[in-house]
Amino acid sequence: MPDFMGTNFEFIPFGAGRRSCPGMQLGLYSMEVAVANIIHCFSWQLPDGMKPSELDMSDVMGLTAPRATRLIAVPTTRLICPL
Ligand code: HEM
Repeated sequence: MPDFMGTNFEFIPFGAGRRSCPGMQLGLYSMEVAVANIIHCFSWQLPDGMKPSELDMSDVMGLTAPRATRLIAVPTTRLICPL
């Protein structure tokens, strides 16, 4: 995967050059904490006995590259988190 610091123009989520995002580190840390909490606090399963191999991982073209079909994952509480 190319790095996203601004030199690989195919992947610049925070922009590039003099106008690039000054909040990049805060953004990255915030996402890391959010994802870590989601994984830590819940167990995740696919719906209706669906197998991981049945997941459609294709994407569609656009300004971003969203999934072609929605990912449905069912959470069950694993811990009582303080958030
Ligand atoms: C995942 C989180 C974030 C993403 C993906 C993101 C992405 C971006 C992008 C694409 C730009 C435009 C860069 C350009 O014009 O080349 C931008 C600009 C900016 N971002 Fe962020 N950003 C994030 C979080 C933040 C945070 C947390 C802050 C502040 C606390 C912030 C403050 C700014 C500011 C002030 C600009 C304007 C910079 C300028 O044009 O002078 N961003 N951001």
